[in-house]
Order: sequence, then C-alpha cells, then structure tokens
Amino acid sequence: MIEVSRLSFSRHDGGEKHRILKDLDLEIPKAQHVALLGDSGSGKTTLLHILAGLLKPESGSVKINGLELNGLNDKALALYRRKIGLIFQHYQLLECLTVKQNILFQHQLNFAGQTAVQFDELVAQLGLRDKLHALPHQLSGGEQQRVGIARAMLNQPQLILADEPTGNLDQKRSHQVVTLLTKLCKERQINLVMVTHSQQLTDYFDTVKVLSDGRFE
Ligand SMILES: Nc1ncnc2c1ncn2[C@@H]1O[C@H](COP(=O)(O)OP(=O)(O)O)[C@@H](O)[C@H]1O
Ligand SMILES: [Mg+2]
Repeated sequence: MIEVSRLSFSRHDGGEKHRILKDLDLEIPKAQHVALLGDSGSGKTTLLHILAGLLKPESGSVKINGLELNGLNDKALALYRRKIGLIFQHYQLLECLTVKQNILFQHQLNFAGQTAVQFDELVAQLGLRDKLHALPHQLSGGEQQRVGIARAMLNQPQLILADEPTGNLDQKRSHQVVTLLTKLCKERQINLVMVTHSQQLTDYFDTVKVLSDGRFE
C-alpha cells in the first residue's frame, strides 16, 4: 500500500526554484497497479525516484506499507531500497555479465550467501531458461527487458517502479512485456507503478494517473 500526501518537490537551478511536483496526493491499495502518464518533463521520473527513496521530498509524506520515508536515515533508506524493484527503459544490464549473472548480481550484493529462492521460477515464467548463458548483446530488446524484470523481482520487492520499460520495444513486444510484468506482480501481490506513453498499455492497469505540470489531472 502506497500513501502519498501533499508531496512537493522543487529543483534549484542557479538561485531559481523550479517546482516539479505540487502537493500531490496518491493512494495505491495493496497489490494494485498504476499506470503513470504525462508529457515529457511533467515529473514522472522524479515521482518514481521519490517513491524509490532516491530523492527526498521537499515537503509532504510518502508511506510505503506503513513506513514513512521522510524520517529515515541513510542506512534505513538503503535497507528500504533493497525491497524496491527498478525497471528502466534502457534495461541497464551489465554487458560483460551473462543473463544469469545479471539477474543474480544485485541479490548477491545485498544478500550475500542467501539463495535466491525465486530464481528458477522467475526464469521459467519469463521464458529465459535457454538464455541464461547468453550475453545481453545476444538478446532481443524484449528478452533484455525480461532479464530486467527478473532482476527487479528477485529480491521479492514490495514495490516495482518501471520507468518507460517498453520505450525501446515494438508494439508486440511491449504488450508481451507488460502482460508478463503485470501478471507476475499480481501473483506476488506487489504494487506496481509504471510510466508509459502508450494509452493502449494502460488497459493492463487498475488505475491510470496523468501528471500535468506537477499535478494529477
Ligand atoms: N537532475 C536534474 N537536474 C535538474 N533538473 C532536472 C533533473 N532531472 C529532471 N529535471 C527537470 O525536472 C523536471 C521533471 O523531470 P522528470 O521527472 O524527468 O520528467 P518526466 O520523467 O515526466 O519526463 C523537468 O523539467 C526536468 O528538466
Ligand atoms: Mg522520465
């Protein structure tokens, strides 16, 4: 469950203050999925970064499953971020590592020595079993993003934040990727917030929110 209230965020640029997010309220019930739309520059990525604990709000409150992010110190924030899955437009795979190593890398950093219990199931569900020893450049865009999804889901996150994950994919692969992503998150009762420019892809979501000039329409 995500509860955002009166969230504001500004950037300061040579003494000038730019208000990016203006008094936003947002409530996402347990396991619900939200598609986030809005023009370029409307603040979508900024909002995801605040939910991820990567940026601090200027004012307002952000609660994730009852945890107020505002009051957390750096160590507590780092622990919080381990339970968040991030998915990016450009996949952000490490080119010198195999698919298997890419999926496991972050888990091994965060939870050294612990078995990644979801690994086999995720690899099977995402159709990656035959690709585990391939390098990223040997995969199609859709396959690379499925690796990105496996990596994001491996730590059993409470929340997945996806920033235009289909921005580099054709229509067919976009639908495949979003079908898989929403299905896996529903099965695991994970909140999902996905930024997209595609009106068609919003059909897979419980709620659609449109950001415009720092506010929801
Ligand atoms: N690192 C940054 N430094 C300064 N301004 C930024 C930075 N990142 C984003 N902005 C500005 O903040 C506003 C919102 O950006 P962003 O959240 O990336 O929008 P969106 O993802 O909707 O395109 C834009 O005006 C953008 O130029
Ligand atoms: Mg963006």
